Amino acid sequence: MPAARSSAPSRPAIASLILAAGKGTRMNSARAKVLHQILGKPLLSYPIDRARELGAAPVVAVLGHQIEAVRKDLLARYGEGGVTVVEQAEQKGTGHAVKLGLEPLAGWDGIVLVLYGDVPLLTRKTLGALVDEAVKTGGLSMLSAQVPDATGYGRVVRDAQGRVSRIVEHKDASPEERRLTEFNAGIYAAPVAFLREAVAKLVPQNAQGEYYLTDIVEWAAESIGASAIVTDAQEVGGINDRRQLAEAEQILRRRLVDRWLEHVTFRDPDAVWIEPDVTLEPDVEIGRNVALRGRTTVKRGTRIDDGAILNDAVVGEGTEIRPYCVIDGAEIGAGAIIGPFARLRPQTTLGPGVHVGNFVEIKKTTLGKGSKANHLTYLGDATIGDGVNVGAGTITCNYNGYEKFETVIEDGVQVGSDTQLVAPVRVGKRAVIGAGTTVVKDVPDGALALSRAEQKNVEGYADKVAERYRNRPGKSKP
Ligand code: UD1
Ligand code: CA
Repeated sequence: MPAARSSAPSRPAIASLILAAGKGTRMNSARAKVLHQILGKPLLSYPIDRARELGAAPVVAVLGHQIEAVRKDLLARYGEGGVTVVEQAEQKGTGHAVKLGLEPLAGWDGIVLVLYGDVPLLTRKTLGALVDEAVKTGGLSMLSAQVPDATGYGRVVRDAQGRVSRIVEHKDASPEERRLTEFNAGIYAAPVAFLREAVAKLVPQNAQGEYYLTDIVEWAAESIGASAIVTDAQEVGGINDRRQLAEAEQILRRRLVDRWLEHVTFRDPDAVWIEPDVTLEPDVEIGRNVALRGRTTVKRGTRIDDGAILNDAVVGEGTEIRPYCVIDGAEIGAGAIIGPFARLRPQTTLGPGVHVGNFVEIKKTTLGKGSKANHLTYLGDATIGDGVNVGAGTITCNYNGYEKFETVIEDGVQVGSDTQLVAPVRVGKRAVIGAGTTVVKDVPDGALALSRAEQKNVEGYADKVAERYRNRPGKSKP
């Protein structure tokens, strides 16, 4: 097994088990609970990402309900072998889930971090402290929290000295134990050797007939030692229904905005959507109702005005994204001006200083340095050089109903308004295309391309028509 990525060389290896076999009945959903999303990512990816940040390898997910759908999502997100999947066909309890989850760790040594698939708000800091505690003490460490009424949760029972002695589940607890306000969050770190031995001893003799993982806490207290880190109850809260899902999403959104407020200006921090994998450099300014999704990166000094939606976009330094642009999978150079109302689709690459104006759609197209397409244009499957001016209403006709074809426009070309470029076609350097031209064949460097019917002027036409309609009731012009 690979060793943990860690700064301290003496630190033991870390592996993580993510328990996620449960059904999630209260979501009232055809979709597996852990695939419901918070800020564009499934619930399950949150504990996995935190575990990976701590250097956990392998990360093992214990799955049951809708295992195939969940497995598929994990494969798409983390790649082959990124997350090891173990099936728990029947949910016999958290102890049974951990027992199965340890199977792929046969022969591995280190500390196992047990997480739940439906607890998305845990921070790296808290989990780091939990693992550090297990490393430091050599025992079992767990997370707990205080609430006025812990009904439903397992309670942390402490001895006279305040040391953790065991966990009692709500259904098995005495009336006095039920008054305890410190509850078990269900998140643990412990040496794998202890865990293996402990889960092998579990028996389902309790109010629920389940294999309780919590039984191992008492055994740890009696042998290697057990301790609890008391954390914020909000951080360890599980998601059971859509209300909690919506609340957790708002908490996480606000947390991310707050982090970026260190060096980013938000016109309205309550009205912005930022997903966890977004990167914002210093002096970025974000307007109202902006959504930054996926792996979007916005570089230094760039301004994104109201209503823009960016997904997997890279925006260069000092660029201006004007209101209501929709940008997906595009890369924009430094000092560009985009919008208002521009749509940039995947595989679009815009060079520095490019201007793209209103009602312009660009797909799988490169625009070189300083090129402009300012009004009402569609550019698809095109390679456009530096210093090109694309006139209003230009359209690349890239599709014949069967296949897509490419358009090449070389440096310094002037494309007149209302031009159609019927691909495949190439326009050479510094060529000029007259307004209204349908370009169906290549244009040599420096040439003028023109395809217009000659204009004819009919003198006195307006008067002639007026005469024809005179004395026809209801048909006269004002
Ligand atoms: C468990 C703890 C309880 C703690 C609570 C915190 C036990 C016995 N009790 O309660 O002390 O206060 O968590 O939320 O551990 N899961 C499986 N397979 C199973 C059972 C559960 O994968 O067979 C997964 C669930 O999908 C979920 C997590 O484990 O992600 C916790 O299960 P849940 O039923 O919510 O917890 P409890 O057992 O009620
Ligand atoms: Ca349960």
